[in-house]
Amino acid sequence: MIPLTGYSDRLSAAPGERIAFKVSSAAAGPYRASLARVVHADPNPAGPGLKIEDLAHRFAIERPSRVQPLAQGSYVCVDAAAALHTPGPLTVTALIWPTLAAAREQCVLSRWDEAAGAGWALSLGPGGVTARVGAPGGAPLTVATGHALPLRQWHRIWLVADPATGTLRVGQAALTGGGREHAAAPLPPGTHLDASAPLLIGARLAPEACEHYNGKIEDPLLLAAASSAPERLVLDPLLPPADLIAGWDFSQGIAGLDVTDVGPHRLGGRLANLPTRAVTGARWTGREMCWRHAPREYAAIHFHDDDVHDAGWATDFAFTVPDDLPSGAYVMRLAAEGHADELPFYVRPPLGRPRADVLFIASTYTYQAYANHARGSADAAYRERVAAWGAYPHVPDRHPDYGWSTYNRHRDGSGICYSSRLRPVLTFRPRYLTFLDVRGSGLRHYSADTHLLDWLEVHGIPYDVVTDEDVDAEGAALLAPYTTVLTGSHPEYHTARTLDAHAAYLDGGGRLVYLGGNGFYWRIATSPAVPGVIEVRRAEGGIRAWDAQVGEYYHALDGAYGGLWRRNGRPPQRLVGVGFSAQGLFEGSYYRRQPGADDPQAAWILEGVEDAVIGDFGLSGGGAAGFELDRADATLGTPAGAVVVASSEGHGPSFIVVPEELLSHLATVSGEKPARLLRADMTYAELPGGGAVFAVGSITFCGSLSHNRYDNNVSRILRNVLDRFRARR
Ligand SMILES: [Fe+2]
Repeated sequence: MIPLTGYSDRLSAAPGERIAFKVSSAAAGPYRASLARVVHADPNPAGPGLKIEDLAHRFAIERPSRVQPLAQGSYVCVDAAAALHTPGPLTVTALIWPTLAAAREQCVLSRWDEAAGAGWALSLGPGGVTARVGAPGGAPLTVATGHALPLRQWHRIWLVADPATGTLRVGQAALTGGGREHAAAPLPPGTHLDASAPLLIGARLAPEACEHYNGKIEDPLLLAAASSAPERLVLDPLLPPADLIAGWDFSQGIAGLDVTDVGPHRLGGRLANLPTRAVTGARWTGREMCWRHAPREYAAIHFHDDDVHDAGWATDFAFTVPDDLPSGAYVMRLAAEGHADELPFYVRPPLGRPRADVLFIASTYTYQAYANHARGSADAAYRERVAAWGAYPHVPDRHPDYGWSTYNRHRDGSGICYSSRLRPVLTFRPRYLTFLDVRGSGLRHYSADTHLLDWLEVHGIPYDVVTDEDVDAEGAALLAPYTTVLTGSHPEYHTARTLDAHAAYLDGGGRLVYLGGNGFYWRIATSPAVPGVIEVRRAEGGIRAWDAQVGEYYHALDGAYGGLWRRNGRPPQRLVGVGFSAQGLFEGSYYRRQPGADDPQAAWILEGVEDAVIGDFGLSGGGAAGFELDRADATLGTPAGAVVVASSEGHGPSFIVVPEELLSHLATVSGEKPARLLRADMTYAELPGGGAVFAVGSITFCGSLSHNRYDNNVSRILRNVLDRFRARR
């Protein structure tokens, strides 16, 4: 655990609104929390340096320290089962598709009272499928099949306890291809099958949830009988088996956190730590690809021992935004006994009362998708730089305890498709270095976007800030009052509602400045039923950290088809003129002026810029055109009449064409040679409704703004664009 850290219940608040902070501090004495405003979060001494303004005179507080733990691992908790009374014969079964062989037990179903030495548990372990029954005052009675289950195949497993014959049986049977193993042991009189404890699916309670299971579980059920053929038991929700105590049909309520029991007692359960629903089950035929069309083929839940949802920490203190606090990026600073942390949040303008004509949308959905991205980049040289620059000291690789990002995989190899912001997020911190960037600072996301905020401050351009989540909730009305809307360096993740808001803003005559690359790319889902979470399914194509399993391309949270917005009929070019074309290492090159720069429609953009080469400098990879590059393409929707004023070139050998553009090693979707697609197009488009878009097509653009004390051709171009857009009120 990090000695001092925390998170907040929301990422933005308007004056009068309250943000609750949840802190874990291992200090002996109290910790101090104080307000600060973030202008520039890049600690690189070769740039303008950190600009974080202390506002302790506006808010400071001391609180006693306490450690708040974070429990990983998902399961279903059936609290109502604590009142069950099942002293007689018992059969427990489930269909399972295990994904991880471990040296410990992984519990599939249990009802266990550790203190009383009572209950039963059905688990997988090194000894195969294992049944345990409580024995008061002694070790549990255990019997195992002795055969480890093959991974990623469906099996039925069972525990049968029969006090009448005094036997405890355990077994496993493959659903296809045969293979049945079983074992039995005497069940002495006095064993305690009945426990006054909740029932857990995917873990065991002892006294906290433990022995988390990795893999899919389907149709877990309990019978008040000693079944002689447990492998033949089937949970038909319409015709439940005789003697059914409880049977959970996971195909009901896939979009939410509740689990439905079709048995007589209606022992509904609740998901803990967000396992994955909308996954293919034992009955999946491939005839349907969407869980909404054949829910019983999607009656499984995939559990992981490293799933994390809401850390559930108690609130230590709250901050109510004062009326006169300007919109912007802020942090709540924490300090105790030599430890420190800074928890970012944004202050919005007062509701319905913009205080500027320029709006910056903080790409919080993208920050969240990358939350705690463990990328193996923290080698000795990285750590040396972190120490030398006073950069943020922690990396997710060393702290798997907070849960990783949607760019990582679970321990069982499956992709992490959910990210919660209700937990400490180490990558969402001022001074966090993503890369050891030999030519620059190596910032991305939250800190990289302060390159833009700093430039706005230096140029005296007033701006308001809102987040993706705000745009999702309030739509185009939130953007409409502004002459100019600015994105950050990487607005990659969008819901249908955030895309709609951008599109409606432009349709209504708004002016959008897209200051990044690989934007408007992945579709995500959110749901009020699952607070603080985004879901991404890395379906079919695109630059992917993992591939969603076939049949699992539809989100659980909203039932929509996941993956690239391009594959959902909304390529980025249609919205902002450019879309993802190439990617390489975190290296920046330059743009070359194109004939479009002299087009009368666009000639003002490069006014005062005489250079043919633009942006061959900067704090992000050493150049304004780098890392991830977007290009204009009429066939993908770049608006008619769009003008490319500059295009990048000179990208290093690490750069590749994105897979969705390639038909073969030689042929591309657009018909151009692959090498031609390794470029960013700085593009301007005027739209029929009076709106306009200026797009730079590169993630590293904003890193160049401060070069030469903000006097450079990249800075001049952005100034020209803002002056023009803001003048058209
Ligand atoms: Fe990205």
